[in-house]
Amino acid sequence: MPGAAYQLQLRPTTLDDAAMVADLEALRDPLAPPDPELLRHWWRMADALEKAMRRIAVHDGAAIAYVSASHKLWNGDQTRYGTVRLGLRGDVWTDAGFAHLVEVGESWLRQESAQVAVARMRGDFGRDLAALQKLGYRENRRMRLSELDLVAGRERILDAREQSRRRMRRQGVEMRVLSDVDDPEKYRKLYELIIESERDIPTTVPWRELSFAEWKEFWLSTPTIREDKFWIAREGERVVGTSVLDTPIERGLPSTAFTGTSRAVRGRGIARALKYESMGQAIEDGHTRVRTNNDADNPPILAINEEMGYRPVAPLIELHRKLE
Ligand SMILES: CC(C)(COP(=O)(O)OP(=O)(O)OC[C@H]1O[C@@H](n2cnc3c(N)ncnc32)[C@H](O)[C@@H]1OP(=O)(O)O)[C@@H](O)C(=O)NCCC(=O)NCCS
Repeated sequence: MPGAAYQLQLRPTTLDDAAMVADLEALRDPLAPPDPELLRHWWRMADALEKAMRRIAVHDGAAIAYVSASHKLWNGDQTRYGTVRLGLRGDVWTDAGFAHLVEVGESWLRQESAQVAVARMRGDFGRDLAALQKLGYRENRRMRLSELDLVAGRERILDAREQSRRRMRRQGVEMRVLSDVDDPEKYRKLYELIIESERDIPTTVPWRELSFAEWKEFWLSTPTIREDKFWIAREGERVVGTSVLDTPIERGLPSTAFTGTSRAVRGRGIARALKYESMGQAIEDGHTRVRTNNDADNPPILAINEEMGYRPVAPLIELHRKLE
């Protein structure tokens, strides 16, 4: 057992530390442990497309504490938001140790001239949430982490997929996985659709729109995103919708990475049809559960998920604190 947590010996991470940090996070949700390969990818992408700092404390070959701070490349006169991520193992958890991790993240953000620190914490992680509130963090938004049981819902989901397929056929909308689409412009069309629909996801912290090259690198090099699990809807030559399932490599649960439709086609059942294709495929691939995480202020996607049978796991709370 290490000493007091505030004496944590934090050191900068290497990419190899992602496995230990994934293990630290897995202790909090053993039924859905993060995939180490995916975490490593996110670290690489944060270094390539954003600015980031990460520190870890290790004891007996395992991570006992972790803090990262990162921010998107700010432009113009937007508020400069930065994000802190925190992990402190239960057996070494103290208020002082947790506050120290927050301070390490915030002081890096201050050096970067960030104006607001953002932390996202599950609502059922009461101790960490209370500690953040004590440090001045206040709720700004809420997301809903929810889960679909593909075993209990199997027949219902496969039936609904059939109904959706019929509805799409009547409308002349074709649904396929990206790997089966024979159009040399498919990536650019998908990029344009995703950029357009991402703008409509409710958020306080603004997105930085990726260039086509950055988007391609970010999405298509993600080890858990595969073109044969990447559903797209086409109307004629146009790509009008997508839903993509993140499929873990080493461990963890599949989860929907993104669903979006172009503004011109909304309300015609296209997102629902894509999600049913994606879930039907997950059932056929032998998955038993899938997760999704959506903003609580996004009624259309919540309506689809509820109808599909998703059940809440926990709220995910986004908290903000102004940095002096
Ligand atoms: C969310 C989104 C994908 C839905 O796409 P869509 O093609 O319009 O979805 P569908 O037509 O299949 O279904 C939408 C359902 O939500 C319902 N809905 C829409 N607005 C609603 C509201 N304010 N309250 C309740 N239900 C609502 C619709 O009535 C429809 O249900 P119905 O067919 O039973 O009438 C689309 O709005 C979008 O791209 N948004 C931006 C990206 C995003 O937020 N993605 C989700 C998070 S990754």
